[in-house]
Formats: sequence, structure tokens, C-alpha cells
Amino acid sequence: MAFNIATMLPFFLSFVFLYFIIANGGCELEQKKMFKVQMLQRNHQFGSKGCILPESRKEKGAIVLEMKDRGYCSERKINWNRKLQKQLIFDDLRVRSMQNRIRAKVSGHNSSEQSSEIQIPLASGINLETLNYIVTIGLGNQNMTVIIDTGSDLTWVQCDPCMSCYSQQGPVFNPSNSSSYNSLLCNSSTCQNLQFTTGNTEACESNNPSSCNHTVSYGDGSFTDGELGVEHLSFGGISVSNFVFGCGRNNKGLFGGVSGIMGLGRSNLSMISQTNTTFGGVFSYCLPTTDSGASGSLVIGNESSLFKNLTPIAYTSMVSNPQLSNFYVLNLTGIDVGGVAIQDTSFGNGGILIDSGTVITRLAPSLYNALKAEFLKQFSGYPIAPALSILDTCFNLTGIEEVSIPTLSMHFENNVDLNVDAVGILYMPKDGSQVCLALASLSDENDMAIIGNYQQRNQRVIYDAKQSKIGFAREDCSFI
Ligand SMILES: *[C@@H]1O[C@H](CO)[C@@H](O)[C@H](O)[C@H]1NC(C)=O
Ligand SMILES: *[C@@H]1O[C@H](CO)[C@@H](O)[C@H](O)[C@H]1NC(C)=O
Ligand SMILES: *[C@@H]1O[C@H](CO)[C@@H](O)[C@H](O)[C@H]1NC(C)=O
Ligand SMILES: *[C@@H]1O[C@H](CO)[C@@H](O)[C@H](O)[C@H]1NC(C)=O
Ligand SMILES: *[C@@H]1O[C@H](CO)[C@@H](O)[C@H](O)[C@H]1NC(C)=O
Ligand SMILES: *[C@@H]1O[C@H](CO)[C@@H](O)[C@H](O)[C@H]1NC(C)=O
Ligand SMILES: *[C@@H]1O[C@H](CO)[C@@H](O)[C@H](O)[C@H]1NC(C)=O
Ligand SMILES: *[C@@H]1O[C@H](CO)[C@@H](O)[C@H](O)[C@H]1NC(C)=O
Ligand SMILES: *[C@@H]1O[C@H](CO)[C@@H](O)[C@H](O)[C@H]1NC(C)=O
Ligand SMILES: *[C@@H]1O[C@H](CO)[C@@H](O)[C@H](O)[C@H]1NC(C)=O
Repeated sequence: MAFNIATMLPFFLSFVFLYFIIANGGCELEQKKMFKVQMLQRNHQFGSKGCILPESRKEKGAIVLEMKDRGYCSERKINWNRKLQKQLIFDDLRVRSMQNRIRAKVSGHNSSEQSSEIQIPLASGINLETLNYIVTIGLGNQNMTVIIDTGSDLTWVQCDPCMSCYSQQGPVFNPSNSSSYNSLLCNSSTCQNLQFTTGNTEACESNNPSSCNHTVSYGDGSFTDGELGVEHLSFGGISVSNFVFGCGRNNKGLFGGVSGIMGLGRSNLSMISQTNTTFGGVFSYCLPTTDSGASGSLVIGNESSLFKNLTPIAYTSMVSNPQLSNFYVLNLTGIDVGGVAIQDTSFGNGGILIDSGTVITRLAPSLYNALKAEFLKQFSGYPIAPALSILDTCFNLTGIEEVSIPTLSMHFENNVDLNVDAVGILYMPKDGSQVCLALASLSDENDMAIIGNYQQRNQRVIYDAKQSKIGFAREDCSFI
């Protein structure tokens, strides 16, 4: 009796398959997710309805604020094709200037090429075009919409009377309308702290001892100058008195109609440090996609019962690095693509910074290349398209409705996984003809890796500054 090859083939194949699994340690099954290509397409529009986000509340001692893409505040209709193409260029500038600043801090030297970056005082070489997410806060009796930024510390808004203000939606903050506003004097410890923490050495340069001046210059030519003040900060019905912020009298830049910036960095000037007696030094966000109408939430306080997380929260320890004490740094211990572990000697060594204002995750060249090779192996059969700015792994998916995308998972110390959502793996600026892997290589093996906001979408990311740990859980972002 002869074996029928057709009926035996499945057995034979499953044997080969089993052998493959065993040979790979028994746990490496390729994982993919079906995904509709059109879901990557941006919902055009916006057209402003004013710039105040109405949703906020207090619950169980925490504050929940609605968060949206800042296109919500734009006075003009946004051309998404242009915006997204430009965004990658600005993202590159942002990361370059962050790397310069980090190199300078780590080496403790000023090289001539870096000196212009070192002048950037409070902001970490931030590029405003890459800061996407906004919330509305109360300052005194006025509501202000600000961009959130974990990469800087000082919160500031435009202030009347303005020497020069960019156009914003709604009225500019007016200290003289508020009985709770006070400007900070040069001899205050906060002013000395500002100078120490941020290198704002000119804060009190003139002989006029009155106000403590702040200066923030962003990498893209934007800046704010003004003086430090204190005011009641309120959100969701809670008020925190003596909140220190910058009252910006001379401001220029592409802030897109918002009032200013909320600094959520790690130094003691940041909003989260200043409110730590009320909220325990913990905040979290869920970054939505930038589609019109999509909302996420910023939660201030450590109240995990409010989250709509779909997986349990897992916390990983921050790496303590005194030279990078303003940044949130994690210990990356591995990356899987489609369930296959990428091999790289850098895992567990140094760190990776997590940032709300960098768009695309950056990895060291050797790691990026290994990851890219594995991705190309698994995401094969699609025509290759030209590179798009910093993204060099692109495909022409014209006419293709659905694709299977290999899953992407980053591992951190304490067995914590960040399973990147399908909307964070591919980047599609205009149509299916140029869809790119949404990760990029750093230019130098020794540069600092960064987890960008594109890969953080649809995750609850919890920053516990007090216990120096970061939590991750899957969540479909909405106002919770
Ligand atoms: C860096 O440059 C600044 C201004 O040029 C100078 O004040 C400072 O001492 C320099 N720091 C080091 C470590 O060389
Ligand atoms: C500010 O927002 C709060 C909460 O939405 C609202 O109750 C209050 O009336 C607003 N104040 C102003 C001056 O618009
Ligand atoms: C602040 O006061 C000025 C007059 O002093 C008034 O014109 C302006 O509308 C007030 N602004 C707000 C936000 O109340
Ligand atoms: C700062 O200076 C002001 C006026 O010059 C004075 O009233 C105040 O007591 C001083 N504060 C401190 C902490 O020295
Ligand atoms: C702060 O800046 C203002 C405006 O530029 C200036 O008039 C004032 O003297 C500065 N104050 C200090 C203490 O340097
Ligand atoms: C709050 O932050 C300040 C400044 O970083 C720090 O000195 C203080 O100990 C913190 N307080 C609490 C309760 O964590
Ligand atoms: C903030 O930090 C600076 C520098 O680390 C320190 O000198 C200052 O005392 C701190 N201020 C507070 C209020 O903890
Ligand atoms: C925040 O909550 C988490 C989980 O309940 C807990 O592990 C952590 O210690 C809390 N952090 C603070 C600063 O209370
Ligand atoms: C990162 O985590 C690994 C695994 O737990 C550990 O061996 C290593 O020492 C950690 N590295 C740093 C810089 O904390
Ligand atoms: C993408 O593929 C489509 C269909 O195969 C083709 O018509 C188009 O020219 C390609 N576009 C680019 C930019 O290569």
C-alpha cells in the first residue's frame, strides 16, 4: 500500500512546523494582526469649535481631563498630507537637538557644535510641531488650553499685557483680572531654583529686583519670555494654590492657537512635582489617534480604578541616571516582531527614554537594522516604496484592502511588555502608495533610544515619579 502524498502532506507539514517550534525554543510562533489599510487614513477636517475641552471631572481624588490632538484648536483647516510630511522633518530636528543636549550632559563638555543647543534652557530641544496633545486647565478664574509635554518642566501661558503674542483661540490670560495671581520675586527660592534647574541665568540680571524672568527657546525658533508667577491651578473642580508658572509676555512660534505648554517633566518645577502633595506625583495618559473627534484622557493622580485598561497594568522601574534626571528613562530588555525575539547586545544595558513629544520611536542602528530585517521577512510580498523622510521601510499598498501586520512588542525590566497597537506600527501620510514601518534608526550607535508617541497610542501609560516607575496597559483611548 502506497502512501498518498496528498493526504500525507498536512502531516508532513505539521511535523516540519513542530520541528521549527522546538528548534526555536518552543515559544516562537509568528503573530500577526489583520488590519484594514484604510484605518491608517486620517480623517480630514477639524475647523475649530473654539479651543476649550469641556470634559473634566474629579473622581476618587484624581482628576480626569479630556485630551485631543491640537488640530482641534487650529483656526485653519489642516492639510494632513503636508502636516504629516512636515511632522517627520520636525521630529528629526527634535531628536537631533535632544541627542546633542544628552551628549553634552553625559560628557559634561561643551563642544562648539553643541553650544547653540546648550543655550536652550528649559526645553529639551523640543520641537513644537511634534507636540500633539492638548488639555484645558484653569488658571485663576480663566480657562486655558495647553499642550502637554513630558520633555519639559515649566508650565507657561501667554499673558496680558503682551509685548508680542502669537494668535491664540480665546482670550489671553490676564493677571490683573485675577486676585489670586502674584508675580514671583527674584529673591524667592523658586526663582533661584529656576536658575539652578534650567540655566536661566538671566532671570534676575537687571538691577530691578522685582520679577523673576523666564526664557524658553525651542529648537525651531519659537520662544517665550516673561516672568514667573503663582496662581490657583484648577481642573475638574480641584484647585491647587501657589502653582508656579511662566506668564509669557513675548511669545513667538507655531503653537497652533493654544495658550501655552504644560510641563510634565521630572524636575521639581514641573506640574506633577508641584502638585505632588495633592496627587502623589503620579499622572497617566492615553494618547488617541489624531483623527477628528478622537479623545483621550490625562489623569492626574494615582487612581487606577478609573482607567478602562484592557490588560493588567505592569510597572517597570525607571533607570536612575543623575545626568538625565529630567527625563523618564526605562530599561529596554528585548523586542519581538511577530513573536520572534530580535537579538541585540544592547538590551538591558543602558536605557530608552519615553517622551510624549517625539513622534517616531528611535533605536540604535544595529538594533533597528535587525528589527527591520525581521519585519521585512514577515511582511513580505508587498511592493517596496521609496523612503519617507526618516522612515526607510516603506511599501506600496495601493489597491490592497487588508494586510496582516506582524505584532511589535517591547520588553522592559520586571517582565513588562508594551504591545504596540496596530495603529502604531505603520505610518501612512497620504494614501496606500507609501505606507512605512513607523520606526527609525538613530544616527549613532551611542545615541539615546526614544519611545515616541506614535507607538504609545491606545495605551495607558502611567508615570509614577514618586516611586520611579512607569506602567503600561492596553486601552482604547477615549474620554474615560
Ligand atoms: C559650557 O559653556 C558655557 C558657556 O559657553 C560655560 O559657562 C560653561 O562653563 C561650559 N561648561 C563646561 C563644562 O565647559
Ligand atoms: C472654565 O471651565 C469650567 C469647567 O468647564 C467652567 O465651569 C467655567 O465656567 C469656565 N470658566 C470660564 C471663565 O470660562
Ligand atoms: C480682563 O479685564 C479686562 C479689563 O480690565 C477686560 O476687558 C477683559 O475682558 C477681562 N478678561 C477676562 C478673561 O475676564
Ligand atoms: C524679597 O524682597 C522683597 C522686596 O525687596 C522683600 O519684601 C522680601 O521680604 C524679600 N524676600 C525674601 C525671601 O528675602
Ligand atoms: C525682566 O524682563 C523685563 C522685560 O524684558 C525687564 O524690563 C526687567 O528688567 C527684567 N527683570 C529682571 C529682574 O531682569
Ligand atoms: C514633592 O516634590 C518636591 C520637589 O520635588 C519634594 O521636595 C517633595 O518631597 C515632594 N513631596 C512629596 C509628598 O512627595
Ligand atoms: C529643586 O531642585 C533643586 C535642584 O535639584 C534644589 O536646589 C531645590 O532645593 C529643589 N526645590 C525644592 C522645593 O525641592
Ligand atoms: C500608585 O498605584 C500603584 C498601583 O496601585 C502602586 O503600586 C503605587 O505604589 C502607587 N504609587 C504611589 C506614589 O502611591
Ligand atoms: C536592566 O534589566 C536587566 C534585567 O532585569 C538587568 O540585568 C540590568 O542590570 C538592568 N540594567 C539597568 C541599566 O538597570
Ligand atoms: C503603487 O502601485 C500601484 C498599483 O500597483 C501603481 O499604479 C502605482 O504607480 C504605484 N505607486 C507608486 C508611487 O509606486
